[in-house]
Amino acid sequence: MEMNDDIKDLVSKLTEKYDNTGQDVKAYLEGLLESDFVPYWNYINLDTLLTLQKPKTKYPDELIFIIYHQISELYFRLMLNECEQITDKQDISAEEMLMRLVRINRYFSIITDSFDVMQVGMEQEQFLKFRMALLPASGFQSAAYRKIEFYSTSLKNIVGKDFRQNFNEESSINDMYPFLYWKAGATEIGTGIKTFTLRQFEEHYDDEFIALAEKLKGKTIQDIFNARFKENESIIKMLKKLDQNVNVNFPLQHYKTAVKYLQRNPDDIPATGGTNWQKYLPPRFQKRIFYADLWTEQEIEEWGKAWVEEARKNF
Ligand code: HEM
Repeated sequence: MEMNDDIKDLVSKLTEKYDNTGQDVKAYLEGLLESDFVPYWNYINLDTLLTLQKPKTKYPDELIFIIYHQISELYFRLMLNECEQITDKQDISAEEMLMRLVRINRYFSIITDSFDVMQVGMEQEQFLKFRMALLPASGFQSAAYRKIEFYSTSLKNIVGKDFRQNFNEESSINDMYPFLYWKAGATEIGTGIKTFTLRQFEEHYDDEFIALAEKLKGKTIQDIFNARFKENESIIKMLKKLDQNVNVNFPLQHYKTAVKYLQRNPDDIPATGGTNWQKYLPPRFQKRIFYADLWTEQEIEEWGKAWVEEARKNF
């Protein structure tokens, strides 16, 4: 077969590429000739993927619980992929910023909308049995979830509500870090004793989190918005949606699920991570808001309320 010009052009570009690194293109082409075509199951590592579900009990619904957490983590990974691309490029164009924010919101909406897999998709009796086998593990220990927050907003905005007034934009990462809302939420106020789940999480991730927070100081999605896109209505809309997705919609959907499985008045069932979950999980107590400047005082005052009213209609 005659080698057409397109192929000749490609071969010459390939030769240049390998020459530039001092390697022999001919050897690589011979390797290509010997290589197998990669089928779907190898490309996505399917066999390995399907070995990653290891229930600890005999209850079949534990598989749903594990797989749905894994799916959520993969979506968090996709969100972080977008967050990284936004913050790596501080001169990002408005179009690209918008496109990436739309993607993050799409992923967040998917995990919120599909949360019924948890809320109504498992037998409570089985759940209450197998959850004891996963102590002290809790979604509380999801590092990706925390990282999305680090990328989205200044550290001060994710400091626990009761400590926020002690800090300002000049405060250092080291000063604020011990007071992040999730550290406060898993620490007994009177004694300062941390839950084991928190201590385990800190031991594993503190260094990585502090390094990430330092890297992002002055460079978060919020900083890029403040510096360059404050007048862009479409970006404002997407940031408000992100705030609502991360700080209202997902937390409330998740809280509703915790209520369904764990609320058994008068003695509520304790959370596996050991928090006082009834006080800790509802957004109206936490009032975590990434982009407070974009909301009215009343909207901030009533953070999470509209969703609760909407949900009540469907109860
Ligand atoms: C039946 C299903 C679920 C129940 C009953 C439940 C319950 C809880 C509870 C009680 C907490 C409070 C922390 C603790 O003391 O353990 C918590 C935290 C958390 N869970 Fe879940 N969870 C469920 C499913 C999920 C899923 C599928 C995810 C997705 C990754 C998830 C992510 C989280 C996160 C990120 C936190 C920390 C929230 C925060 O710090 O505000 N949970 N969960």
